Amino acid sequence: MPARARRTPVVAAGVVHAGRRRRHVRPRVVPVRAVTVPEPGGPDALVVTDVPDPVPGPDQVVLAVAAAGVNRADLLERAGHYPSPPGAPPWPGLEVSGTVVAMGDDVVGWAVGDAACALLGGGGYAEQVAVDAGHLLPLPDGVDLVDGAALPEAVCTAWSNLVDVGRLRAGEHVLIHGGSGGVGSVAIQLAAALGAHVLTTAGGAERAARCRGLGATVAIDYRTQDVAAVVRDATGGRGVDVVLDVLGAGALATNLESLATEGRLVVIGLQRGRRAEIDLNVLMSKRAAVVGTTLRSRPAAQKTDLVAAVRAHVWPMVADGRVRPLVHARVPLDRAADAHRLLDSGEVFGKLLLVP
Ligand SMILES: NC(=O)c1ccc[n+]([C@@H]2O[C@H](COP(=O)([O-])OP(=O)(O)OC[C@H]3O[C@@H](n4cnc5c(N)ncnc54)[C@H](OP(=O)(O)O)[C@@H]3O)[C@@H](O)[C@H]2O)c1
Repeated sequence: MPARARRTPVVAAGVVHAGRRRRHVRPRVVPVRAVTVPEPGGPDALVVTDVPDPVPGPDQVVLAVAAAGVNRADLLERAGHYPSPPGAPPWPGLEVSGTVVAMGDDVVGWAVGDAACALLGGGGYAEQVAVDAGHLLPLPDGVDLVDGAALPEAVCTAWSNLVDVGRLRAGEHVLIHGGSGGVGSVAIQLAAALGAHVLTTAGGAERAARCRGLGATVAIDYRTQDVAAVVRDATGGRGVDVVLDVLGAGALATNLESLATEGRLVVIGLQRGRRAEIDLNVLMSKRAAVVGTTLRSRPAAQKTDLVAAVRAHVWPMVADGRVRPLVHARVPLDRAADAHRLLDSGEVFGKLLLVP
């Protein structure tokens, strides 16, 4: 990482008015810095470098980044396995919070100076980033601008997969794997706020106890307990209506066993492998469904609809405190490599944030 003084972007000059709305704050007098990956590899493959100023398209805004969420997908991208989709900057960062500093001509409903957070296809590890206006969310009431970066990816993933795909309803039982993780810690709170009975898994008694504090009625230490047996006992032998699975192949048999009749298994992660045999007789006899999804690869219009649904349904829960961002640590953007090592260590509970 280059040893040089941290430079704060200068964005306060040259306000341009378009009608009554301020659309640009220009010119910048220092370049934008980003954490890029010139060659895939370990954490030290992350290199801070100057990148071109982001220019907003007609339907985009530019955010001065207050913080970027660190996601497990970023580790894969750094290692060369999960490139940014076309149109997104070729460096990591799936979510940010920040302040609007420039806007395209067709953007409505936003103004320069607004505090926001956003879902990105990539490029969040930077001092500035261009964002589709449809993927922007206002900073929720009561949430610190930096902590807002912990929300978009986890909330959109949890809402989409629990509600849209998993069709979770009040009174149903849901098993959320990885309750101590960035997605799981939000998914527990969201499912509890929706009125579901939440069962979850985490590594160790202390982490399981923290999951109970988030709203899980049953938190299973997967290192020492038999997950399927605990689920069976806790549901009177019936099983759960929905499983939100971040594990994949290694958990498939347990997940199918844990499903109730007409249960839905939603696979969103492959931390325990991608290939497994499935006993189709279990699926048939339970009339169960197995679905897999990824958020990043979805068309922009689908993400716009999802962000709108999150704003309508989840943002009120954030504003009244039922769903809170869980920030394990804030790490300076210059130390992104340390953040990746920390996430890999398994010590993180909730989210890590990079702060420019
Ligand atoms: N499909 C999508 O759209 C989408 C979106 C976001 C994330 N994801 C994926 O979802 C997964 C979780 O994301 P995240 O941000 O929550 O990651 P994270 O913050 O790193 O959390 C990982 C979670 O998985 C648990 N875990 C790890 N290895 C495990 C194992 N062998 N057995 C049981 N539990 C294990 C961890 O438990 P302990 O630390 O307590 O041991 C932790 O709760 C990642 O694979 C990510 O890529 C997918």
